Amino acid sequence: MDAADVEKDLVNILFTEEQIQDKLRELAGKIEADYEGRELLIVGVLRGAVMVMADLARSLRRHVEMDWMAVSSYGSGTKSSGVVRILKDLDTDITGRHVVVVDEIIDTGLTLSWLISNLASRNPASLEICTLLRKPEAQQMEVGVKYVGWDIPNEFVVGYGLDYQERYRNLRDIGTLAPHVYS
Ligand code: PRP
Repeated sequence: MDAADVEKDLVNILFTEEQIQDKLRELAGKIEADYEGRELLIVGVLRGAVMVMADLARSLRRHVEMDWMAVSSYGSGTKSSGVVRILKDLDTDITGRHVVVVDEIIDTGLTLSWLISNLASRNPASLEICTLLRKPEAQQMEVGVKYVGWDIPNEFVVGYGLDYQERYRNLRDIGTLAPHVYS
């Protein structure tokens, strides 16, 4: 769906579908240059990263393998604990592989910092992060991110994989959710 379909739920449109696709082509270009001559595996973090993975992978003008992980914080409301459990692990052995983890947003940084240390213990040849969005003001854990689309303010954003109560993931654009939706 488009922003027009949920116009009343959004304060503004942060990034249009076109801007997102342009940004992903730009990130794909950097990745192509950095991994020239090397096999590449991109790992998407379910579920939010589905859209970014699909479009980033198709923007890459080279072969790429894709795998997925699903992770979850223990219990509810405990995300800030930084304790994560694996709901679905990789099907791929990443030992000696060049890996880029792809996510749509880094908020506190807790999920990815845990995930990166978990994946690093499997001895990949290299391990980097690509995220479409990052919220510097919300970050609690420093995460070394090589490929960033945009830094954004600490606001409730939805669309393009980002949900509020499982809705809005299928919105083509990214927008700021209106307070009346969640208050
Ligand atoms: C989102 C996003 C990141 C994580 C970032 O996933 O996909 O993985 O939160 O937050 P953090 O930096 O504060 O850890 P979420 O847990 O909402 O699950 P989802 O992808 O299924 O929506």
